[in-house]
Amino acid sequence: MAKKKKQAKPKFVKHSKEEKLYHEPEDLRWATNEAVANHRAQRLRCDTIADLGCGIGFQAFAFARTCKRVIAVDVDDKKIALASKNAEVLKIKNIEFVQGDVLDDVVVKKLSGADIVFCDPERIPEEGERSISSIKPDLKKLVAKYSKITSAIAIELPPQIKNIPFDCEKEYSSVNGKLNRLTMYVGELRRCDRSAVILPSEAVLNNKDDVLVTKSDELFHYLYEADPAIVKADLLAELSQETGTMLFEEAKQVFFTSDKLVKNDFFKNRFEVLEQCDFDEKKILEALRKHEARKVLLRYNVDPKDYWKIRNSYEDNLEGDKELCLFRLKNKAVIAQIIKDNK
Ligand SMILES: C[S@@+](CC[C@H](N)C(=O)[O-])C[C@H]1O[C@@H](n2cnc3c(N)ncnc32)[C@H](O)[C@@H]1O
Repeated sequence: MAKKKKQAKPKFVKHSKEEKLYHEPEDLRWATNEAVANHRAQRLRCDTIADLGCGIGFQAFAFARTCKRVIAVDVDDKKIALASKNAEVLKIKNIEFVQGDVLDDVVVKKLSGADIVFCDPERIPEEGERSISSIKPDLKKLVAKYSKITSAIAIELPPQIKNIPFDCEKEYSSVNGKLNRLTMYVGELRRCDRSAVILPSEAVLNNKDDVLVTKSDELFHYLYEADPAIVKADLLAELSQETGTMLFEEAKQVFFTSDKLVKNDFFKNRFEVLEQCDFDEKKILEALRKHEARKVLLRYNVDPKDYWKIRNSYEDNLEGDKELCLFRLKNKAVIAQIIKDNK
């Protein structure tokens, strides 16, 4: 039998013109994804914006499309040089680049005309627990200094951070179903306490007061996986209300269920439940055969070293043509089929 060709993983691209732009290999890790940058640029549209810690400029380039004037600052002269070259490549003319420490009063003075101040600070690459104190520049000092210029301040934070010592809206964003960024909005930019933005669709969900979550212990005909930005922003009750679905919790996993099919950008995946049976290998195999399975994606907690052994133990006995998912929910086996987005 001919060997199956391994498909190359698609390259993760942060900017549509990335190949033409100048950067050092590490810079891309910290550069803002274009979808996130564009979303923030829409939300922070104004006359003059200050971009503090601009790096190689990915966020600043998005601001340049929605703001008349962008002042982009970085302490690292090499980054400023790369960002300026990149602006030339992209033919962007309304960004002024400033090299300097954003906490230096000379720099603060240069930014005194800003309507909005945005900062994407530097964090250390790995950390046991993300903390505000390891972020550079010092954000408490930054907010104290720039609050004298404007109350409209937005700051990017690592999404894993737990304690945020500011009175702010926390906006979690995801790109293609993966958690990407946390942006905090203070002062007049704040719209609510917690929000989620799903990219590239731009669907936004804000927290509401007094919304009660509807829970179910019973699994209905459809099963949904919430987008990680919704989970991180703790918007489960809001999602349940918005979609008319019920929260169906399984250990630490969060699902929703309904008897009518709901299409909504806040769901990362939707499934049609085909069969529920005891979590017994024989019964599962019977059900998989009945539903003409060929591939079985294991969607429950499996030790990674056992994943293929278990999956092959089913697939070696199947002759259908469908790709089905096997969940373990409330100790039952649930066989389900993913619903493609065009349905
Ligand atoms: C996460 S990167 C910015 C990435 C950028 N927003 C983008 O979209 O490509 C953080 C930047 O903050 C800069 N930085 C750190 N401390 C600073 C300070 N005190 N003043 C100015 N820039 C600073 C670093 O040099 C680094 O380039």
